[in-house]
Amino acid sequence: MKKIMIQDMSKHLGETVKLGAWLANKRSSGKIAFLQLRDGSGFVQGVVVKAEVSEELFAKAKTITQETSMYVIGEVTKDERSSFGFEIQVKDIEIIHEAVDFPITPKEHGTEFLMDNRHLWLRSRKQHAIMKIRNEVIRATYEFFNDNGFSKVDPPILTGSAPEGTSELFQTKYFDEDAYLSQSGQLYMEAAAMALGKVFSFGPTFRAEKSKTRRHLIEFWMIEPEMAFTEFDEILEVQEQYVSYIVQSVLKNCQLELERLDRDVTKLEHIQAPFPRISYDDAIKLLHEKDFNDIQWGDDFGAPHETAIAEHFEKPVFITHYPVGIKPFYMQPHPDREDVVLCADLIAPEGYGEIIGGSERIHDYDLMKQRIEEHGLDEKAYAWYLELRKQGSVPHSGFGLGLERTVAWISGAEHVREAIPFPRLLNRLYP
Ligand code: 4AD
Ligand code: MG
Repeated sequence: MKKIMIQDMSKHLGETVKLGAWLANKRSSGKIAFLQLRDGSGFVQGVVVKAEVSEELFAKAKTITQETSMYVIGEVTKDERSSFGFEIQVKDIEIIHEAVDFPITPKEHGTEFLMDNRHLWLRSRKQHAIMKIRNEVIRATYEFFNDNGFSKVDPPILTGSAPEGTSELFQTKYFDEDAYLSQSGQLYMEAAAMALGKVFSFGPTFRAEKSKTRRHLIEFWMIEPEMAFTEFDEILEVQEQYVSYIVQSVLKNCQLELERLDRDVTKLEHIQAPFPRISYDDAIKLLHEKDFNDIQWGDDFGAPHETAIAEHFEKPVFITHYPVGIKPFYMQPHPDREDVVLCADLIAPEGYGEIIGGSERIHDYDLMKQRIEEHGLDEKAYAWYLELRKQGSVPHSGFGLGLERTVAWISGAEHVREAIPFPRLLNRLYP
């Protein structure tokens, strides 16, 4: 007998198969038991009909506890009512391991309880769907960049530099030296772009931010493309193409998951390039029109400001040309204005906030040297970065997309903690 997975059931219609599964839930009457089975690849209903099986098997089916593991033997049949289209007519069950008092039951649980049980909560339907969508975003990311001539490059995680400012660093000892956990691979990706032209990275990044919001993680995963011979406008086009690609890939390949999450897919369907652009100056004006009188030119936007701007548009929106004072040291100044830089943040719709930060980078040696000094950075640690501006320097641009914020938005998850398997939060290192 063939051992199959739920995701492949459609290929085995009418066959008797063996399925390794856990019991997600069950209900039964005197004559029939419905077992909600899951095997990691999907969920399916197993039907045990009293009149068709031994008394012993029917009794066993009725008493299986939630999350018990087993082999189920049965025939794959069509079932129009299930979203999956199939069910399994159970002929036999071999219990592998009986679960005892699984803590997460179909009733409502509080968030802290669920987070304490994250190692088990991951098994639930909604969390399973979000992890599948995360996987699809990663898969589509590799596909998009590989199809467009990028090479994947892996920057280090233990570093001596701090691209995004020194206040949010995790410091550690590197034998006798001080080291930091990477808060962005960007500086290394710039070096890689000078070697390979078009590169992207995908890896964990760390921010010791004391923020406790639905958008902040302490450890999160970032995709960081970097392109040589590429100016500001060109990098925006890559961003909108890339974001459209991953959203459309999820729509195509994760229909069941989006349905299980009750995601309003009409909101995702029109996420297609191009995306609107609004300058920082105009964004400030827009906020004043919307009665946000607290914000002045030169201030950074908070979550309510970003949400108010995003509400104006159906698609993600680029906010461009921020004041030089609120952005990192490496950004290329505007050619005609000293007070703003060639950068953009991409703000997702529906209140999910900034999903991308990107810019053109300074490629002039003297200006970069000046910025490193002005920002009080350790010149020794940045010597290699500065040297890139001495050895065939070219205009180049790149960006970083936060995976969890993007997955939370596409899935419609309330909080980024649900978009990563084991979230690291201000007050949480367990499990
Ligand atoms: O805007 P950020 O800080 O940009 C950089 O790190 C650049 N060096 C990237 C580059 O140009 N290569 O971070 C980029 C993105 C944000 O837009 C956001 O999506 C995500 O990373 N991000 C976070 N996600 C979750 N929790 C946090 N604490 C995050 N901080 C940033
Ligand atoms: Mg940013």
